[in-house]
Amino acid sequence: MESHKTDIVICLGSSCFARGNRKLVQVIRKFLEENQLEDRVFFHGAHCFGECMMGPHMKIGDTLYQGIDEDKVQVILKDYFGL
Ligand code: FES
Repeated sequence: MESHKTDIVICLGSSCFARGNRKLVQVIRKFLEENQLEDRVFFHGAHCFGECMMGPHMKIGDTLYQGIDEDKVQVILKDYFGL
């Protein structure tokens, strides 16, 4: 358990995956890389969060973000890390 790091989880269930998370995995990875955040973050995928209708989903810590897309993800991450 990497509790000292920020946990970022992206839903890789088939609905979220097909509706954009497939690409967002790369977008998030690139963002973390470009902002030298890789050491501070534990980024991983998860199975269906059980609310596919509201997806695609991502979680940062205990906060759930719904209906994410490429632009929203950037805004959320910048906001979260104060960039
Ligand atoms: S596939 Fe993401 S909530 Fe079901």
